[in-house]
Amino acid sequence: MTNEKLTIGIILGSTRQGRVSPQVGEWVKEIADTRGDAAYEIVDIADFKLPFLGEGTGDEPGLKAWSEKISSLDGYVFIVQEYNHSITGALKNAVDSAYKEWNNKAAGIVSYGSTGGARAAEHLRGILGELQVADVRTHPTLSLFTDFENFSEFKPAELHHENVNGMLEQVVSWSTALKSVR
Ligand SMILES: Cc1cc2nc3c(=O)[nH]c(=O)nc-3n(C[C@H](O)[C@H](O)[C@H](O)COP(=O)(O)O)c2cc1C
Repeated sequence: MTNEKLTIGIILGSTRQGRVSPQVGEWVKEIADTRGDAAYEIVDIADFKLPFLGEGTGDEPGLKAWSEKISSLDGYVFIVQEYNHSITGALKNAVDSAYKEWNNKAAGIVSYGSTGGARAAEHLRGILGELQVADVRTHPTLSLFTDFENFSEFKPAELHHENVNGMLEQVVSWSTALKSVR
């Protein structure tokens, strides 16, 4: 194990035009950057132009870049939005587009939706188990009704700040521990 700083990717789970996930991801990163315990970066699925699993040639540059990016990170924070009581198709496809790269890492979830994105987050937890990703307990849940203006402008309630730090604390702790397993 080296003393290099941990790297944690903040993965934006939505890719649609007009999505709010970049606002939520930047807010998490701002809080994270004040901690000094890891190098945090935004990972935007949309940047990778991933083919739908099994439908491409397998040689797409974005697929290779995705594999390298997921592999290079020690842990993850998933920004999860609820679509039809689950995660987005884009996030599921991105998650399925790697396997070993995820193994023995830790992850936290920040979700949003009409009920805080809880149903989507719980679906993601089941998926992460299969990928041998240890998902931490503390889970900030943001409401479309009270943490967003007009469902589009992100104005988080102050109480979430502490929860984000609690989640990051656990992600950093487990990411550090799991380095010794890899
Ligand atoms: C296809 C679709 C399905 C949705 N289904 C749900 C849902 O089941 N529960 C919920 O709370 N919100 C649902 N929403 C609302 C989204 O959570 C909300 O639009 C959110 O801003 C989406 O995240 P994004 O802006 O990052 O794409 C749905 C939105 C879309 C586009």
